[in-house]
Amino acid sequence: MGMIRQNIQMMISEEEIRQRVKELGRLIEADYSGKDLVVIGLLKGVFPFFADLVRAIDLDFHVTFMRISSYGFDLESSGKVKILQDIDTQISGKNVLIVEDIIDTGQTLAMTLEHLKTQSPASIRICVLLDKPSRRIVDVPVDYVGFSIKDVFVVGYGLDAREMYRNLPYIGIFHTESNLVT
Ligand code: PRP
Repeated sequence: MGMIRQNIQMMISEEEIRQRVKELGRLIEADYSGKDLVVIGLLKGVFPFFADLVRAIDLDFHVTFMRISSYGFDLESSGKVKILQDIDTQISGKNVLIVEDIIDTGQTLAMTLEHLKTQSPASIRICVLLDKPSRRIVDVPVDYVGFSIKDVFVVGYGLDAREMYRNLPYIGIFHTESNLVT
């Protein structure tokens, strides 16, 4: 439904996302029940997933964000991960859950982990909506995965192509002129 975009091919529907987010919420809820939890979202791409996921976790916890960027305005990762904004919460002795939209090369999450570990949390786990295992350069332990996908350029539900399409309620494959399907 909605506007037809010739360059975007539906991959994961709104309904499929909703179902999977609900399941992830249940798993996280069971694992952290009775524990001191801080949920950290990595902006910007995570914003829709984060909003849906935290509302699917029926526990009491802190929420905070970090802003990390590797792609800038390019379509390919620059490989240089920068912390643009740090967390504003104490995580020492607490259980930390990092929430991210997608793990690709792993560089963003590897750097985030390294950075947060220096603040002595009791534990750190990672939850990603999408995993592209074939692209991994750095090994990162991911505890909760929404969907494992092949190496295609995805947009929507927070993910962008040159800062566009983050608002799409579904996840689609983005076709540039060079790989446009006819
Ligand atoms: C994207 C995505 C992840 C990261 C994954 O972020 O949101 O954070 O790249 O890639 P990696 O595993 O190869 O490090 P981007 O730098 O585009 O920032 P954004 O979240 O603001 O879109």
